[in-house]
Amino acid sequence: MKRAISVVAAFAALVLVTAAAQAADKGEQVFKEKCAMCHVVKGKGGKIGPELTKVATKLKDKELIAQLENPKKLNPSSTMPSFKTLPKADMDALLKYLKTLK
Ligand code: HEC
Repeated sequence: MKRAISVVAAFAALVLVTAAAQAADKGEQVFKEKCAMCHVVKGKGGKIGPELTKVATKLKDKELIAQLENPKKLNPSSTMPSFKTLPKADMDALLKYLKTLK
């Protein structure tokens, strides 16, 4: 019985680790689709916006979300489009991904 419990616990831990890794992967995918044409991370991407490799050390979650939802509020002359309609799961994955970069 004890053994069955530890097998279940090991499996649960594996599922959690995998889910976290998948969220970061999904974030990377969202980034490549929606952001990489304008932003460089780790030396790759477009040069229209600033490099974002270390952006999570500079901006807090709230500030990142504000930038994504309403870029013009923070910088009226911003040419970055709003990502207000991005599904919450994509937004969360994106934030996780940006935090893995720094
Ligand atoms: C059409 C080009 C374009 C796209 C697409 C774009 N951005 Fe931007 N982004 C910019 C520009 C230009 C700026 C600088 C002006 C400003 O502050 O808004 C910027 C600024 C930012 C900043 C603030 C950086 C700082 O150092 O203060 C963040 C964070 C950011 N973008 C994240 C993203 C993310 C995440 C995506 C994808 C969901 C994205 N951007 C898509 C052009 C773009």
